[in-house]
Amino acid sequence: EFHREALDAGLPSNGVLGRFDRRQVQRGFQVFQEVCSACHSLKYVSFRDLRQIGYSEAEVKAIAKGWKIEQPSINAETGEASTRPNVPSDRFPSPFANEVAARAANNNALPPDLSLMAKARHNGANYIYSLVGHGYVNQPAELLRKFPGAKTPTGLHYNQYFANLNIAMPPPLTQDGQVTYSDGTRASVDQMAKDVSAFLTWTAEPNLEARHSAGFAAVIFILIFCFLAWGAYQNVWRDVK
Ligand code: HEM
Repeated sequence: EFHREALDAGLPSNGVLGRFDRRQVQRGFQVFQEVCSACHSLKYVSFRDLRQIGYSEAEVKAIAKGWKIEQPSINAETGEASTRPNVPSDRFPSPFANEVAARAANNNALPPDLSLMAKARHNGANYIYSLVGHGYVNQPAELLRKFPGAKTPTGLHYNQYFANLNIAMPPPLTQDGQVTYSDGTRASVDQMAKDVSAFLTWTAEPNLEARHSAGFAAVIFILIFCFLAWGAYQNVWRDVK
């Protein structure tokens, strides 16, 4: 009773004929870039994939080069580990060298890779929107009255959409205008949460639009085929009464 159903992010990619809103997906990328990438990687997405959401080749190069988290790299001669600037073929890196370092920085929790998060969680797009946009609230007094032991431990954060209610991720979206959108959209927390959910829907299924088109074409084909089959049936049995 304390765990809420995810809110509807109302993404235009929903539904059988849904399409991405390129500008929204780009805004979501901005949120990922400026906020989420400080802890999360996108290991199945490379910088050059941004071409698909409307960035030019030059923009992709610049984004990769300027990315704050560099790629881990090993010097072929000395074997020394270091980092190098990203290039378009690189995947979006994790800021942590390894799992131990990631857990050490996050109260022993591991920030998961977000590439497929919109698919990994039930009702993923709406869940992500709800979790980061509307999840962090004060722990209800009634919950504490019923279950005093459920008090959120220090280092964790109460989130009404997280499965066990206490999440290690600190609230990532805390104030309106945290991101300055290049298309001029007002960056309310709600808007940023919707947009990042749209972006993560795209990372999880970049070919969603092609799938929707193919599905639509298949249904039309099947309808036509039904009429043809019915006509053939009529023809075959024409002389039989
Ligand atoms: C977990 C999204 C920013 C640290 C998660 C999860 C999602 C998510 C969907 C998985 C929740 C689940 O398992 O169901 C985002 C988004 C961000 C963002 C969209 C940007 C708007 C950050 C930042 C940090 C962070 C900046 C670090 C300061 C973590 C950690 C977890 C996590 C530690 C694991 C939580 C746990 O298992 O208790 N995040 N995140 N996240 N995130 Fe983020």
